Amino acid sequence: MTDFKELISDEIANVVGIGKQELLTYIEVPKDIANGDYAFPCFRLAKALKKAPQVIASEIKEKIKLDENYFSKMEVAGGYLNFYINKNIQIMDVLTKVGNGAEYGRSELGKGKNIVIDYSSPNIAKPFHIGHLKTTVIGGALYNIYKYLGYNVIGVNHLGDYGTQFGKLIEGYKRWGNEYDLTENAIDKLADIYKRIDGLCKEDEEVLNKCRENFKLLEQNDEYCTKIWNEFKDLSIKEFQKIYDLLGSKFDSWNGEAFYADKTDEVIDILNKTGKLVESEGARIIDLTESGIETPCIVCKSNGSTIYATRDLAAILYRARTYDYDKCIYVTSYEQNLHFKQIFEVAKLLGLDEKYTRGLEHVSYGMVRLPTGKMSTRAGNFVKIEDLLTNTINRAKEIISEKNPNLENKEDVAKKVGIGAVIFNNLSSSRMKDEVFDINEMLNFQGETGPYIQYTYVRTKSVLEKVGMVPKASDIKAQNLTDEYSLKLINIIYNFEDILKQVIEKSEPSILSRYLIDLAKAYSAFYNENKIICDDKSYQDARVYLTYAVGKVLKQGAKLLGIEMPDKM
Ligand code: ARG
Repeated sequence: MTDFKELISDEIANVVGIGKQELLTYIEVPKDIANGDYAFPCFRLAKALKKAPQVIASEIKEKIKLDENYFSKMEVAGGYLNFYINKNIQIMDVLTKVGNGAEYGRSELGKGKNIVIDYSSPNIAKPFHIGHLKTTVIGGALYNIYKYLGYNVIGVNHLGDYGTQFGKLIEGYKRWGNEYDLTENAIDKLADIYKRIDGLCKEDEEVLNKCRENFKLLEQNDEYCTKIWNEFKDLSIKEFQKIYDLLGSKFDSWNGEAFYADKTDEVIDILNKTGKLVESEGARIIDLTESGIETPCIVCKSNGSTIYATRDLAAILYRARTYDYDKCIYVTSYEQNLHFKQIFEVAKLLGLDEKYTRGLEHVSYGMVRLPTGKMSTRAGNFVKIEDLLTNTINRAKEIISEKNPNLENKEDVAKKVGIGAVIFNNLSSSRMKDEVFDINEMLNFQGETGPYIQYTYVRTKSVLEKVGMVPKASDIKAQNLTDEYSLKLINIIYNFEDILKQVIEKSEPSILSRYLIDLAKAYSAFYNENKIICDDKSYQDARVYLTYAVGKVLKQGAKLLGIEMPDKM
């Protein structure tokens, strides 16, 4: 497709002493279409050139020569130089590109680059809580989008399957295991056992010592402890898998914390050699105050055991060597901000190539609340995610049955709509914003929701069904799509690939969710303002084709977020 932004920056680069790549980052898309399709702000140049922005804009305008085939005019407005593109070219570009059979927006941008995404990563023998739902959905969307842009992506479910708590759980299981039937709702029951033993540990130091003993045995691969620990793990994964099946989540690696248990010695060795690993109250720590981090990173506890952070450091070594990553992204709630700051800083001491420490990125997100208040594992007030998903699907089914009683495959549609609603809700606002989980709100077909996007898609499908066929792009006359509503749609569709790039640059899938809402809204306006099926065949073809293009982009965009489209709803 014609890259108008690039044409502009190429020209400007010739007349100002700034590189084309940097100029590209200056160019904006004006909010009001009256100000052109692109704007070049001259404010940043003003200081260096010691001239008023407006003067600079005029000078650039005088000096550059834009290809008249691509641009209709340039205008100075305030400190901006505004560019108006040739709409016919853009229209035909978009229509041919969308219709050419290939997946629209797919690219090879990331060819040869490896991206590790560590996401979902729940803790075994503990409920999968709403925060894990969020990392699963955000990580899954990033996974899909990186892949679509040509990167080699490795999705890792870094299970929380190790740590002293398993010593406790083993102790509890030894004592009361036979009271529980673990064939059903195993996680709830394990959580219950854990609560009981944890309570007992607080009262009785002896019991606590036994638990520590168990963990030591587990570390030494003791047969009995390993066997029951494996059982906890299998039971947990089985329950997590039900959620992953509903959400369509997939992982390339399930190497969790336990996988690194025999790889932490190397980390400690390397850190010892740096001389920075120091003794503090029996524990061994790295002081990070010089890097502006007040809390030291504990590497070994006073009893010699490693911790979460040590295993994460071992994982960095392993991932650098195994995947040769360009980026290693961790998706967790902001509650782990300090943890990641610490390990990213300590990772610099591991002797890795600088590329690997530069590639570490923590993608954090805000709190998820039910309308009734905060939910966190610590407070213990989690809802079961599986119930939450099935409730949403059931509610979707009620709504659909009411709206469209004769619909076939209601079950399948309800699943797509219910899950789509949950996924979209998790991605609809910027990730740091706290999120309220409200089933009715997220299932509102008229709101800024997943079902609204699905509903708009279904609308495009029914237009195409009525007409019976999609005309050929080459038969469309660009001048039939120059009304305000069509142009708006063309513009949005044109920006799709750019939006995907922004998502990965900012690790912010909500940019794509917002985009899909804008596209769906613009289609509704187009649909209301223009008669699609009309007497003038030439107009009808153009509008039908645009409808087809909108449907295609909605479907592709939703798919990248992890949302499936029903054909009818
Ligand atoms: N298991 C952790 C939790 O549930 C998240 C793990 C994130 N990944 C990592 N490499 N630390 O909070």
